[in-house]
Amino acid sequence: MPYEVYKVLHLAGVFMVVMSSGALAMHVANGGTKDHAFHRPATIFHGVGLLIVFVAGFGLMARIGIMGFPWPAFVFMKVGIWLLFGGMGALIYRKPQLASKLWWVVWLLAATAAWVAVYKPGTP
Ligand code: HEM
Repeated sequence: MPYEVYKVLHLAGVFMVVMSSGALAMHVANGGTKDHAFHRPATIFHGVGLLIVFVAGFGLMARIGIMGFPWPAFVFMKVGIWLLFGGMGALIYRKPQLASKLWWVVWLLAATAAWVAVYKPGTP
């Protein structure tokens, strides 16, 4: 698949992850629980979005000529941010008192991922 297709898919996945993480944080910050009808669609959206981000992220890497190991530092950073997003849903429910702060962290992580993708720290 071409670079452009991977890029659009990657961003579409990012929007799913950011939207669902932010929504879950807001839901829990307002006293919401897993019993709410909103819980299931939001967590499915979160998981499917993460999968799309991952697959399209590695497709993008191949298209910009990054093959195999060792990865450049920026790829480790992106995988690290991806893992943090993976744990976000569980953290929000486990620490509801932090949910309103995690709402901001969602934005900060996404903005950092964009910065890392554009500036690619660690690459010449
Ligand atoms: C497995 C994890 C990830 C990998 C391997 C990955 C990899 C990449 C690559 C290779 C690019 C293209 C860079 C270029 O075209 O020069 C990219 C772009 C981008 N990534 Fe990721 N990424 C990952 C996770 C994430 C996450 C979790 C987010 C945000 C929530 C994110 C946000 C972005 C954005 C906004 C761009 C577009 C930057 C631009 O338009 O140039 N990525 N990513």
